[in-house]
Amino acid sequence: MIMTVDLGNRSYDIITERGSLHHAAEYLDLDRKVMVVTDDGVPEEYAEAVRAAAKDGHTVTVAQGEASKCFEQYQRILSEMLSLGFGRGDCVVAVGGGVCGDLAGFAAATYMRGVDFYNVPTTVLSMVDSSVGGKTAIDFRGVKNVIGAFKQPERVLIDADVLKTLPKRQISNGFAEAVKMALTFDEELFSVFETEDPMSYVDKIITRSLLIKKAVVEADETEKGLRRVLNFGHTIGHGIEAAVSPELYHGECVALGMLPMCSDKVRARLLPVLSKLKLPTRYDFDREKAFEAITHDKKGGGGFVKAIVVNEVGSFEEIKMTLDGLYGKMISYYGENK
Ligand code: GLY
Repeated sequence: MIMTVDLGNRSYDIITERGSLHHAAEYLDLDRKVMVVTDDGVPEEYAEAVRAAAKDGHTVTVAQGEASKCFEQYQRILSEMLSLGFGRGDCVVAVGGGVCGDLAGFAAATYMRGVDFYNVPTTVLSMVDSSVGGKTAIDFRGVKNVIGAFKQPERVLIDADVLKTLPKRQISNGFAEAVKMALTFDEELFSVFETEDPMSYVDKIITRSLLIKKAVVEADETEKGLRRVLNFGHTIGHGIEAAVSPELYHGECVALGMLPMCSDKVRARLLPVLSKLKLPTRYDFDREKAFEAITHDKKGGGGFVKAIVVNEVGSFEEIKMTLDGLYGKMISYYGENK
């Protein structure tokens, strides 16, 4: 299946095709120097399939996890590219999850003022969300995604066969982002999570999530308005992530972050879905530490945040609230520190 993200001269196709990873050169222009960026949690054969299909392929493997979104690894990729004589006509390919995509994409965005970038997501999370939309970044001084660029890929290649090797916890981690899309835009997709075995519907879940992501990005590429809806669950989620890092995965924190931001009746439907996916619904985190990270994240907002709340499944509202109000929401669900 081909879905085009329509962004004028930055438009690109998302190709969803089982088995495509092993025919990467049919879908991506690899007839040049190619820097594959992957991590040590991704089966080596996936990155190797892309590297071997390239005319002049190279690989940088970083450690799995958010800590690799750092200056050191960013510099390592650029150093390799420079030593290997990469020019403006060459390209970078991310083969992995959100961390690889963010890091590789930022290297591609900045090397020689920008070279082509392809994203080959290998996790549910990156397939349903992060591989599309052009957000690339590294973390700095403990602040997530604080140095980055919008860099749309030239193409996204999704081969859901690779999910066969993805650990169950990672599958659920990605489904959390698809639940986010469903809660805010697509009640029918949400009912798939309620009534079916999500893994049996993974192709449908990927497609429906991508249709939502595409529409949002086309309407608001650089997050001036509508795209903020994709941050549903992320404000409190990022705070929890910072407080417990690296115990929980990003999607697990998003699951925890969505719960305080729903109406009671939506939460009553969300809780069983999260439990079914074995995502956390309660967690013992340091509320003060989480809130400190949230306020740091939101510095510059004049003491206010634009928060997304879901009062009816399949819809959302953006409300301006004070940081104190947001703290109150968090505490009303999780309670104060014990
Ligand atoms: N993952 C949120 C966004 O792409 O805006």
